[in-house]
Amino acid sequence: MNVYSRKCMEHFRNPRNVGTIENPDGVGRVGNPVCGDLMEIQIKVENDTISDIKFRTFGCGAAIATSSMITELAKGKTLEEALKITRGDVADALEGLPPIKMHCSNLAADALHAAIMDYYKRTGKKLEKDDVQRVEGFHDGEESTEI
Ligand code: FES
Repeated sequence: MNVYSRKCMEHFRNPRNVGTIENPDGVGRVGNPVCGDLMEIQIKVENDTISDIKFRTFGCGAAIATSSMITELAKGKTLEEALKITRGDVADALEGLPPIKMHCSNLAADALHAAIMDYYKRTGKKLEKDDVQRVEGFHDGEESTEI
């Protein structure tokens, strides 16, 4: 029995945007203490827009599919728009994930947000108060931790 959607399996088998970026503008690394999986997302930013994005993961099949999908969702978006991408958006774009695998999409969303926060830190730019609250709200009570 296949509990994964066709789209999820497709991203697992043919992940988009795998790898690293030379001189990235932001790097986000997160881990899940429960399953021990790790995820890294690197971004390149031009005019406040994510012009390139790559990921690497030591994670399960769902981690591969969710990180592939989040890179597709984030590419070409402004930082502000990319900060609004939630784990639910990733799961929806993959046409659903088994409930036990929802935490894998946390890793992807958290790694993206961490990469954007890293960019803000490096450039000394300030986040809007709403964005800070939104990012903190997403991560409340969830399992991923920055590493
Ligand atoms: S089981 Fe850990 S990321 Fe999927």
